[in-house]
Amino acid sequence: MTSTAIITGASAGIGQATAFLLAKKGYNLVLAARTSDRLEAVAKQIKELGSQVLAVPIDVTDEQQVDSLVKKAIDTYDQVDILINNAGICMTAPITQTSLDDWQKILNVNLWGYIYPIYTLLPHFLSHHHGIIINVGSFGGKMPLPNMTAYCTSKYAVTGLTETLRLELEPKGIHVCGVHPSVTNSDFLERAVFRGEQEKSSEQIRSSIEEMLKSPLASQPLDVAKAICKMIDHPQAEVVVGTGAIATNFYRFAPSLSQWLLQQSITNS
Ligand SMILES: NC(=O)c1ccc[n+]([C@@H]2O[C@H](COP(=O)([O-])OP(=O)(O)OC[C@H]3O[C@@H](n4cnc5c(N)ncnc54)[C@H](OP(=O)(O)O)[C@@H]3O)[C@@H](O)[C@H]2O)c1
Repeated sequence: MTSTAIITGASAGIGQATAFLLAKKGYNLVLAARTSDRLEAVAKQIKELGSQVLAVPIDVTDEQQVDSLVKKAIDTYDQVDILINNAGICMTAPITQTSLDDWQKILNVNLWGYIYPIYTLLPHFLSHHHGIIINVGSFGGKMPLPNMTAYCTSKYAVTGLTETLRLELEPKGIHVCGVHPSVTNSDFLERAVFRGEQEKSSEQIRSSIEEMLKSPLASQPLDVAKAICKMIDHPQAEVVVGTGAIATNFYRFAPSLSQWLLQQSITNS
C-alpha cells in the first residue's frame, strides 16, 4: 500500500523540497500552508510527477482548521502514515523589543502549530499501532542563539515535545523524530521579523544574515528534505542538519564557554 504523508508549511522552502522528494518516491501527499495559490502551484507540480496530492489551505494555529486537514487526509487516503510538522516563523529581536504579541505569534505557530496536528492525528496512529512524527525543529532548539529568545523558546519547546513524546509512543509503534536545520537558504529569513535596539541595528542584523545565507556554510532546503526522507526510511531520535551540528555539539560539551562566546557576539555587535 502507498504511504501517505501530511506536510505542514509545504508551500515553500524545506516543506516544499520535502514534498517534491516524497512525490518522487511515490508517496501520497497532503500539503498544508495558508497561501492557497502557492500551495496549489506546488500540488500541480507534484501531480505532474505522477503522485496523488491534496492541497489543504489552513492556518496551523487554528485547531479546527487542523482538525479538518486531518479528516480530509484520512477520508481521502484511509490511512495516514507520516506527519511532518514543519510550518514555522522566525524573529530576531532583543527581549526589550519583543512584545507579548510577538511571543504569542511565535509560540502559536512554532509550538501550538505542532501540538494541534499531533493531538488530532494521534488517535489514528494509535489505532494502527503505526506512524512517524517528524518535528522540524532548529539548531536554535539545541543551543541558544543571540537575540532570538522567543524563537529559541519555541524551538526548545519543540525539542522537549519531540524527546518526551518519543518515550511514550515508541513502545506503541510510533516513531517521533527531530530534524534540526541550521541556517537554511529558504525564504524563511526573508519573511522573518528583524528588530534591533534601533532601526540601524535591525538593518545590520538583516544584512549579516543575508551574507550568511549566501555563504557555502548555509544549508539548502533540499539538504534538510533529504534528512527528513532518511528519517522516514530509518527513523532515529534526531539529526542536526548542516554546520549547526558542530556548534550544537560544542555547546553540549562546553556550555559555559559557548555562552561566553555568544555573549561576546552580542556585546560586540
Ligand atoms: N530556514 C532556516 O534558516 C531554518 C533554520 C532552522 C530551522 N528552520 C525551520 O524549518 C521549518 C521550515 O522553514 P523554511 O525555512 O522552509 O521556511 P519558509 O520558506 O518561510 O516556509 C515556511 C512555510 O510555513 C508556512 N507557514 C507559516 N506560518 C504558517 C501558519 N500559521 N499556518 C500554516 N502554514 C504556515 C508557510 O506558508 P504560508 O506563509 O503560506 O502559510 C511556508 O509554507 C520551520 O519550522 C523553521 O523554524 C528553518
